[in-house]
Amino acid sequence: MTDPEIHQLEIEKIFSKKWYFIAHESEIPNKGDYVSRWIVHDPVLLIRSGAGDINAFINSCTHRGVHLCTADLGNKKTFTCPYHGWTYNIEGELVGILAGNKLYGEEMDKKEWGLRKVPKVESYHGLIFASLNPDVEPLEEFLGGMKWYFDIMLGRSNKGMEVIGAPQRWVVDTNWKVSAEVFVGDAYHTAMTHRSTVELGISPKDPLFASNGYQIQLENGHGLNVIQPPESVSIPPYQGLPEELWPMFEENLTEEQLSVFKNTMVFNGNCFPNLSFLSPMHGKGEHENLTNFLTIRQWRPLGPDKIEAWSWVLVDKEAPEEFKENSYKRYVNTFGPGGTLEQDDTELWTRLADASKGVTARDKNLHFNNVVNYLMGMDFVEPVDDFPGPGIAYPTTFLDVVHRGFYEYWQELISKES
Ligand code: FES
Ligand SMILES: [Fe+2]
Repeated sequence: MTDPEIHQLEIEKIFSKKWYFIAHESEIPNKGDYVSRWIVHDPVLLIRSGAGDINAFINSCTHRGVHLCTADLGNKKTFTCPYHGWTYNIEGELVGILAGNKLYGEEMDKKEWGLRKVPKVESYHGLIFASLNPDVEPLEEFLGGMKWYFDIMLGRSNKGMEVIGAPQRWVVDTNWKVSAEVFVGDAYHTAMTHRSTVELGISPKDPLFASNGYQIQLENGHGLNVIQPPESVSIPPYQGLPEELWPMFEENLTEEQLSVFKNTMVFNGNCFPNLSFLSPMHGKGEHENLTNFLTIRQWRPLGPDKIEAWSWVLVDKEAPEEFKENSYKRYVNTFGPGGTLEQDDTELWTRLADASKGVTARDKNLHFNNVVNYLMGMDFVEPVDDFPGPGIAYPTTFLDVVHRGFYEYWQELISKES
């Protein structure tokens, strides 16, 4: 988990080869709007162009390579480097050099010194992904079956989703795989890790509650849980989203998608490598006043044992303002940086990373028999054949199937000769 050599391999063979989530389109709606982001250690500047497209540049001045724009977000016509004053426009062209002609003569062609473009940028339902690999497969091919579930969470209403506020960020002393593997399908931890929320009466008492529903294994290391209530519990349809939106859901989604969406309490999953999502219903009592929110997370590795968590909250643009506010509040209470459940998780992810640094944990020859356990449900829980969505669906979420899928794909990429 915290080996520096493996961390370096991950940067070379995973993060710079595959797609990496960087922003949602609604964060930069107008010409000149920009956000500063990272693909691990590569700074990226994302700007809405004059023509309304998305320009993605390496956020580094072409003069000496200084990190150009360090503001998180804003709107600008030009970006001036604080070092020697080279200036670029929103199309990334170098438009100003301090005392330019006198110092560089007529010879130097400014056109050759514009900001370098990020090789590939594509979006799906507003999620903007970038890749440093010009030969990466098309985004939709990489997402595969995940698209079907993204349609439900992000493509269900006519005007799509919008981010509320700016993404929140915090640093956690753990490895990115720890958080990714929790989101990909670890429903098993909820009863114990989040026990305090059971005691507060905001989570159900039944320790098996979160096991109801399906775990879905998808291609390319992606996976998710679709948590549905047991027969004895009734929940409002479509995660209790406002009724005004339902006709849109019915217009934009297929019968199969609607049948899953209608009866689901929680979607949680991970899009390989490090984009996680969670769309739960949290309430004031066990099953009372349930309100849905959708958060997407990117676990940016800052090192082998440190991540910067980025967390966005999304709502349907066309949802009533009151719902948007309630949804955001519910997020802040539970999964914001000071949220009850977020703190529970963070504490344990740190402990896992701490315990992975010693001699016994790093023992490659198994002198200490140091193996961890990913065997839940293995060999005796069989997939079902009547789940309408893509992927291999298993009839419970208390399983390690998607975790094994995540690490199998990780292993495949990390061992590839490049
Ligand atoms: S490094 Fe940017 S102008 Fe010199
Ligand atoms: Fe958790």
